[in-house]
Order: sequence, then C-alpha cells, then structure tokens
Amino acid sequence: MSERNTDSRRSTEGWLPPQWTRSQAGRLERTPETVAPVIEPPPEDPAADLHIWDTWLLRDRHGEIAEINGWRVLFSLTASEELLPGKRHDVAEIRFFYSRNGTEWHGGNTVFESDALGQRQWAGSALYDDGELYLYYTAAGDESADELNYTQRIAVGHGGRFEADEDGVWSEGPWRHETILEPDGEWYENENQSKGMIYTFRDPWFFEDPETGETNLLFEANTPVPVDSDRCDGDEAQAEFNGCVGVATSPSGDPLDWELEPPLLDGVCVNQELERPHVVIRDGRYYLFFSSHMHTFSPGLRGFDGLYGFVADSLRGEYEPLNGSGLVVTNPASVPFQAYSWMAFPYRDEILVQSFYNYREFAGDSLDGIADLSEAEQRRWFGGTLSPTLRLDVTDDRTRIHGTLAHWHIPTSEEDLPDTDEYQPPEAVGSD
Ligand code: FRU
Repeated sequence: MSERNTDSRRSTEGWLPPQWTRSQAGRLERTPETVAPVIEPPPEDPAADLHIWDTWLLRDRHGEIAEINGWRVLFSLTASEELLPGKRHDVAEIRFFYSRNGTEWHGGNTVFESDALGQRQWAGSALYDDGELYLYYTAAGDESADELNYTQRIAVGHGGRFEADEDGVWSEGPWRHETILEPDGEWYENENQSKGMIYTFRDPWFFEDPETGETNLLFEANTPVPVDSDRCDGDEAQAEFNGCVGVATSPSGDPLDWELEPPLLDGVCVNQELERPHVVIRDGRYYLFFSSHMHTFSPGLRGFDGLYGFVADSLRGEYEPLNGSGLVVTNPASVPFQAYSWMAFPYRDEILVQSFYNYREFAGDSLDGIADLSEAEQRRWFGGTLSPTLRLDVTDDRTRIHGTLAHWHIPTSEEDLPDTDEYQPPEAVGSD
C-alpha cells in the first residue's frame, strides 16, 4: 500500500479518504457553464439497430487514443433496439466500432464470443499495450445462478487480437477471461453488506500516472459504513448513500495483476453511485471525473444526472470539487435525463466530453417514472446512440462548456476544431 497522509481525516472507522461533502453538494445548481444544450436527434445513426450507452475508447498505457492500422476503436454497451430500453442493462453486451477520421464509425460486432464472464457485461476500459489487448469490464450477475442477479466483479479479457485491413477491424479470439478484483468488505462494500440501493463494484478504468509511473485501475464502489459509525452525524438513512471511487494498483505494471488500495474519494452521506470514474491530467493537476444520477443523492440533497469532477495535485491528493459543488456538466431542466455516462478526455488545450443520448422529452423527477409510460413512449423517447461531444474549458477548479461537436464526433489529433466565440450557453434555471 502506498504511503498516505493519515492525519487529517478520521472518524470512528479511522482514516478517511477525501470527501465529497454534504455542504459542497448542497451548492449544486444549474449554471450557464454547466448546462449542455438540448440535443436534437442525429441525422444518421451508425447503429440504428442497437441501443447504445456507456462508451469508451481504445487507448495506450499513456492514455493516448490508440490506433490499429490507422483505425481508432470505440467500445459500447449495447443491446438490440427491439428491447424496451429499461431492459438493456439485463442483457448488455460489449460491441465495437471503428473509424479512420473520428466522424464516420462502422461496425457494431460483439468483441467476445459468448464466453465473457458474468450474466452480462457492463462498463469498462480498453488498453492496447505492447501489441497486447486488455479489455477490462464488469462481470455483472453470477453466471452460475439461474435468476438474473446483481453481483459485480471486475474482469479482463485478454489474449485475443484486433485484426484490421483497409475495409475494417475485426476481433479474433480466443479471449481468456479472468476475474481480477472483488470487493474486500473493508474498503469496498460487498453484496452482503449493502443496505439500501444495489451496491456497486464496477466500471474499471486503466490509468497510468505520468508523474509516478504507477499503474492503476479506478472503479466505482461503495464504502462500508458500520451501524455505529459517526459518519453523517449518525443519520443512518443518509449513510446508506455511500458511493466511492475505488482504486487498485499493479506494483509490477502488469495489466493483469492488481491489489486493492483505499478509495481516492468518497461520497458517503452524499451519493450512492460515483460511476465510471476516470482521471484527466491538465497543467500537472489531476482531474477526477465521474457520472451520477439525480435519484442516487442522499435524502435532503438535490442533484442532477450529471458529470461531476474534483481536482488535486496528485492521484491520491486532497480533492477539491470543481465549480464549488462538483457539478461539471448536466442536462437542461426541461430534459433532465437527455444524456448520461460522460467520458472526459484531453484534446489540445481543452477537454472533450463524450456521452450517450438517453431519455429526451421526459421531465419526470426520476428515471423510475419511465416505467409508467407506454411502451411506445419509452421507445420513442430513448436516444440510444452517442450524444454530441461537448467542449470544455478548464482553468484551475473552474470549468465551462464552450461548444459542442456532432453526435459521434471524436476528432483525431490532426483536426482543427471550429472557434466557439459565438457559442451561446442555454439558459440555466437554478436548481430545478
Ligand atoms: C452507467 C452504468 C454503469 C454500468 C452500466 C450498466 O450508465 O450504470 O455504471 O456499468 O451503466 O448498464
């Protein structure tokens, strides 16, 4: 375990990681800097027969977007668009797309044969290192059980290849699948300890620290909070919301060999799900981003489906919330669920943010309300494809959306993006 500052933060449980506090989250509000424009459906959908949601890029060990014979590769959670959108999490499969120019994407084939771990596969990340592929994912559901269940473990598929020619890219197995991390019950809550909403132990994200050279895997998890804990001033209902950003390291740098370490940040008393955590380095500082939902905030807090972010001087530093509250990107109040699962990545002197087009024209208080709609409405209102990419200016602990690119536009480094001086932020209406 690496050396950590253990003096500053203690509770009845001992050392605590940096916190997303209730007072920070109490400042959450929509602002012109954080609200994305209303999304129009794309003129063309490269994967119209699929529901598409969480998406990530093939990268190298240094976080650069990797190429295979001039093709970049994008991975998405997918399901047949014949299914009701709410059912997609129960059958999710990872498929991949490839592009030469970052605007036209082809493909949509599954990555693995039917031998991936779990009843279905949830989000992950993809590493191309020294000619080898390491496809990290969440094995969701215990495949030895007959019933659908929510057990989660972190897995990797490796040993396979992506082959490419002028016409495209294809996956060549066999892939070997291994479970690499499971919750230890001390730093990371396991299924039996979980009290309120479904626990989380998922969304592995590979990150090599450019300062220290340390090899890390970030993930979404929950912090166990014992019944006699003094956290949340003893308020048990609040303490059921115990999301954290977990981390494991690989002492040898081997992408298959991981040891759990204490969380980088926790949101105990604030939020249950700190999803798809990832880090972007800017000006030598560490920007830690994750997505979260309106309905996973603890009682008494009002938040949004949004991208949240923190900044510190090192990976295990004293994280401070961006923009005072942590909110970086959210949806307009008129369409609060229009996008989700944001992924930030550096592009020249800005940060781009990719996400998926979720429920448009649905203005309920929670996504739970979706299930009460007719099947036709549920289908009509689900985007199920990639959203327009957002452009973010980042200075110290402040961020500002300053433009958008088209749906599915993930520019290659040669592309000069248009000026955004004319960008008009949408009107932001308080905390509605
Ligand atoms: C976020 C998420 C991920 C998970 C996936 C399941 O959109 O909840 O945390 O891997 O969706 O479908």
